[in-house]
Amino acid sequence: MALERAAQHAQEAGVADRIQWRRLDLAGWEPATRFDLVSAQFLHSPVELPRNSVLEAAARAVAPGGRLLVVGHESFPPWSRHPEPQEPLPTAAELAAALGLQSPGWALETVASVDRDITGPEGQTGTLTDSVLRARRLEA
Ligand SMILES: C[S@@+](CC[C@H](N)C(=O)[O-])C[C@H]1O[C@@H](n2cnc3c(N)ncnc32)[C@H](O)[C@@H]1O
Repeated sequence: MALERAAQHAQEAGVADRIQWRRLDLAGWEPATRFDLVSAQFLHSPVELPRNSVLEAAARAVAPGGRLLVVGHESFPPWSRHPEPQEPLPTAAELAAALGLQSPGWALETVASVDRDITGPEGQTGTLTDSVLRARRLEA
């Protein structure tokens, strides 16, 4: 359903011929191609998800000179139905360290905590913090 909607939007935007849509379990994903931009946005799940190993694979998919962009929650909204995480959600700096992006092969371009005001489903208001990590793989 989501992929059909996305494909429809791509069609309307005239970029359908430039996109391949894939539906798969990222837990077993190993990239066969490298890309100039690999983006993972709010990759969180209420069910088991090996987030760090998925993001390690995402980093492996970045071509020399390309970028990895990972945005995620540093906290869940109070009305979230996510179970309490067993470990605190990582900051961008903690994630960069976990993914080995502080090595000489990478340049960290953005490592930030970003607050934003949000409104919940019942009209509740609050402030959320997102982690933003952007890194460039240096040319080999
Ligand atoms: C919080 S949603 C974010 C969706 C979108 N990136 C966004 O920012 O609106 C998390 C997404 O991760 C996907 N997801 C969770 N575990 C996954 C897995 N093992 N393989 C593939 N996708 C997964 C879910 O299906 C869901 O679409």
